[in-house]
Amino acid sequence: MPTALITGANRGLGLEFVRQLSADGWRVHASCRLPEKARTLKTVEGEIERHKLDVTNGLQLAALGRELVEEPLDLLVNNAGIFGPRGGFGKIAYEDWLQVFNVNAMAPMRVAETFASHLAKAEKPRLINISSRLGSIAENETSGSHIYRSSKAALNMVTKCVSIDLEPRGIMVAAVHPGWASTDMGGSRAPLTPAEAVSGLLSLIEGLEMEHSGGFYASDGSPIPW
Ligand SMILES: NC(=O)c1ccc[n+]([C@@H]2O[C@H](COP(=O)([O-])OP(=O)(O)OC[C@H]3O[C@@H](n4cnc5c(N)ncnc54)[C@H](OP(=O)(O)O)[C@@H]3O)[C@@H](O)[C@H]2O)c1
Repeated sequence: MPTALITGANRGLGLEFVRQLSADGWRVHASCRLPEKARTLKTVEGEIERHKLDVTNGLQLAALGRELVEEPLDLLVNNAGIFGPRGGFGKIAYEDWLQVFNVNAMAPMRVAETFASHLAKAEKPRLINISSRLGSIAENETSGSHIYRSSKAALNMVTKCVSIDLEPRGIMVAAVHPGWASTDMGGSRAPLTPAEAVSGLLSLIEGLEMEHSGGFYASDGSPIPW
């Protein structure tokens, strides 16, 4: 039975990853900040283990790494993320910027360092960072959302570095864009349901091989310019 670890698994795309992977016969380690309050997650059926993990908390991360030390991980999804304040030029909330960087860019690096050895135990391991087209420098024609955009651009660089770091251990590492999905972050005007976004991502992930490692992809497999 393949095994996955998902961060931010209590709602939005993370919860949907748990639902779809579990329905496909995966064993899922579903991590979130407050598992005792994750009511919907508790109702998902299958081989699911819930774990407490604030991705910015190094002690919690190390503890989970130790708890799962014997587990080969076939898939790790760095999904947890925050948007932060949207204010643009002249309205930048500097005091919030570091926290967005911490969650969106630094934590995925810490998660990768913690679980690289678990991934290395699997036959065809994949480390997926949920990025965003908004992090593409090449596609930015409107400015706005400076804090979120810069955090995802940093995550993209983290992805590229980690892909090189983990290539000798046979771990495929990629940044992916889920599309605009109707979660708490995406809002109700988004054209994709979380189910559609995650099913697109899972098809993409299934087709990713070592030759794709270090890339940034949309759900249809097309590369997104950095
Ligand atoms: N929705 C979209 O259209 C869209 C588009 C592009 C990219 N993305 C990316 O997709 C990912 C999931 O987004 P979403 O739309 O599902 O957002 P969401 O509905 O707002 O859910 C965000 C998830 O991240 C968790 N989280 C936040 N800070 C955390 C922390 N410090 N430690 C652990 N978990 C934390 C939240 O947990 P709590 O409930 O504890 O806050 C929640 O489970 C994010 O990385 C986002 O940037 C989304």
